[in-house]
Amino acid sequence: MNPTSMRVALSHFGSGLTVITGMTEEGPVGFTCQSFSSLSLDPPLVTFSPSRSSTTWPRIRPLDTFAINVLADGQTALSVSFSRSGSDKFSGVEWRPSQHGAPLIGGALVTFDCRIWGEYDGGDHTIVAAEVVAIELDAETKRGPLLYYKSTYASLNLITENAAVPVSP
Ligand SMILES: Cc1cc2nc3c(=O)[nH]c(=O)nc-3n(C[C@H](O)[C@H](O)[C@H](O)COP(=O)(O)O)c2cc1C
Repeated sequence: MNPTSMRVALSHFGSGLTVITGMTEEGPVGFTCQSFSSLSLDPPLVTFSPSRSSTTWPRIRPLDTFAINVLADGQTALSVSFSRSGSDKFSGVEWRPSQHGAPLIGGALVTFDCRIWGEYDGGDHTIVAAEVVAIELDAETKRGPLLYYKSTYASLNLITENAAVPVSP
């Protein structure tokens, strides 16, 4: 087992994408995060895993609250820019503060305001369990999720169309 074979194997697990954001004294910060998942309904918990090499997570961790923004189809550029360490990630990004002050990214399918519930050892990542304290949901949106599969951005429509193609014998 080596990191490359792990990375390639795990890329076959398709998922949505999030950007995790916080409001620091220097302004809004955030990072693209695929490792988001549901965890518990009561209490309301979600989980994600920041890399130990992330320079942004240590700036978000001390904040009272932070936000998890679930990206919509068409927000690939946001995913790419929020994955570039050291860049001015919020330049040109439309956002507003949540009721708890965390930056909510415009056009996100749903946002979760969160507090840290626990953080655990996860090898070269840590495992964060986060308590959801507020949700903003656009129930009327017709947009689907931005998906990530085999290191490629995809949309639900694309997958549905591909699935509809008959398999030749
Ligand atoms: C599709 C995609 C998924 C990612 N998922 C994660 C993740 O689950 N955890 C993580 O720590 N970094 C993840 N990253 C990498 C971070 O976005 C990137 O390392 C981080 O933004 C580095 O910047 P920072 O130093 O400002 O934290 C992902 C990047 C991409 C492009």
